[in-house]
Amino acid sequence: MGFTRLFSVQQPKELNMSIVGKVLGAITPPESEKRRAEATLKARQAATPGDWLSMALDHHGQIRSAFEACRTAKPQARPQAMMALAVVLNGHALAEEVVLYPALAKAGEKAHAALAYTEQTTAKMQMAELERIDPSDQAWLDKVEHIRGAVLHHMFEEEGSWFLALKADYDDQAFLTRRFAEEYARYVDGAERLPTGALHEIRSFEEPGAERPPL
Ligand SMILES: [Fe+2]
Repeated sequence: MGFTRLFSVQQPKELNMSIVGKVLGAITPPESEKRRAEATLKARQAATPGDWLSMALDHHGQIRSAFEACRTAKPQARPQAMMALAVVLNGHALAEEVVLYPALAKAGEKAHAALAYTEQTTAKMQMAELERIDPSDQAWLDKVEHIRGAVLHHMFEEEGSWFLALKADYDDQAFLTRRFAEEYARYVDGAERLPTGALHEIRSFEEPGAERPPL
């Protein structure tokens, strides 16, 4: 790649297209809902009850439900819906990042492992932004939709390809199952042990001691 290619200036129209493409890509996953459902089914068929893949698929189901709860919650119930989503989304992502993605790289899928880390880091940054938006604003719902689109696509990549490769090509499957369960529990059970419970944490838009209605 030559100097001019490396340092070429992006034209305004190209720049606009790439920004629009990124935003749309995050909100509307490129694959259809039907293709996502087929990938989930295929991955479920490759899993055995209790293994790391069946646990990951269970988490994915919980994450989809938690996003639905955020989308449909009344404004006053949104903080709790967001916190319930954050617990399962972060716990699942951290367990993947500590256990599954390193194994994916070792199984010959380094580029996909790197992409998986990048996508999940982006999701964590977006969730941190969501925490700072007033839940009664339309911007809160827009942000939820944005994150949901990106996460649905990420789970499709895992279920449709990356995890099938990890299941087929990594020798010590029992190790992955044990360590994935440990790391998920470390986060999710830890959240439940917080003095006030994870769903009562105070966010920046709230008054300390604010009461929240049940979900
Ligand atoms: Fe995942």
